[in-house]
Amino acid sequence: MSNKTVLVTGGAGYIGSHVVRQLGERGDNIVVLDNLSTGHSKAVLFGELIVGDTGDKELVTKILREKNIDAIMHFAANTVVPESVEKPLQYYRNNTVNVLNLLECCQQVGVKHMIFSSTAAVYGTPDTLMVTEQSPTRPESPYGMSKLMSEHLLRDYSATGAMSHVILRYFNVAGADPQARIGQATPNATHLIKVAVEALCGKREKVSVFGTDYATPDGTGVRDYIHVEDLAAAHLAALDYLRNGGKSTTLNCGYGHGFSVLEVLKTAEKVVGKPLNIHYGPRRAGDLAAIAADSSRLRELLNWTPQYDDLEKIIAHAYAFEKTL
Ligand SMILES: NC(=O)c1ccc[n+]([C@@H]2O[C@H](COP(=O)([O-])OP(=O)(O)OC[C@H]3O[C@@H](n4cnc5c(N)ncnc54)[C@H](O)[C@@H]3O)[C@@H](O)[C@H]2O)c1
Repeated sequence: MSNKTVLVTGGAGYIGSHVVRQLGERGDNIVVLDNLSTGHSKAVLFGELIVGDTGDKELVTKILREKNIDAIMHFAANTVVPESVEKPLQYYRNNTVNVLNLLECCQQVGVKHMIFSSTAAVYGTPDTLMVTEQSPTRPESPYGMSKLMSEHLLRDYSATGAMSHVILRYFNVAGADPQARIGQATPNATHLIKVAVEALCGKREKVSVFGTDYATPDGTGVRDYIHVEDLAAAHLAALDYLRNGGKSTTLNCGYGHGFSVLEVLKTAEKVVGKPLNIHYGPRRAGDLAAIAADSSRLRELLNWTPQYDDLEKIIAHAYAFEKTL
């Protein structure tokens, strides 16, 4: 166990809470900073939870100093692509300005490492289904652009030698703690698997499919779904890598193959053994046709081997958690 402490912003949220749990299980020191705008205090199973905002520089600086923070895992953000089209300034403030803010606090206190939650949305519509970290970045929503701008902030700051970072570009995160203690509890979530299991639990009347005319085999969007446990494990590996002197880098987080919206819904029906009421509608603003992650760098550099590359398991875990809510 290290005597250093990691600050997890957004650690009461879906992905952050799984990372906090895995860090806690291996005995790391953890402080969580979360404003509980979409997160839940009961999802924080380890460490100290401080309720506050990443935009509060005085608070952040105090935490960095007093808690002996050497690394930040920065999850806190607004995360809904269509909402970012309607409220771009809110997204740039929370997802970009607050990163600048955090980096200024890091500079003041001398915090050396950051792991940043980025997204496949920075790529926009790719030229090929599989994208590598070198593929062009052409975000098609304020959400994707707000994350890409933060990536640049981080790279430019790290280039001064003051910090080292790992940018993790997540593809579609799904599933839950296999023991169903935590999972995606965000209200009004728009993620397909979350919506499907809500419907299968009788909490929604129907599942909407946005767009049936994409250039994909069945006309619906294709995405690379990664189990939140495997994604969380990548964060722990990234933290160890940076603490052991690893160089700043950007890594895709996905399995390298995609499923269409219809394939996911059919698999959910099969796993749970109930039919879904599927409603077909027009395309949604900011969505793209198909994308999957070339994650070979993650596998090689961080020695990451996924444990849950199995759509049925992902859905079964999400469903088991949904039933506890
Ligand atoms: N879920 C996905 O599929 C996905 C995909 C790509 C990237 N991401 C990124 O992963 C990160 C975590 O996403 P999530 O799905 O766990 O979302 P989430 O909404 O469950 O978690 C975000 C957490 O941050 C907190 N928060 C938001 N703004 C804050 C602020 N200003 N100060 C303090 N706390 C704040 C919220 O209360 C919440 O607990 C985000 O940065 C998101 O952009 C998620």
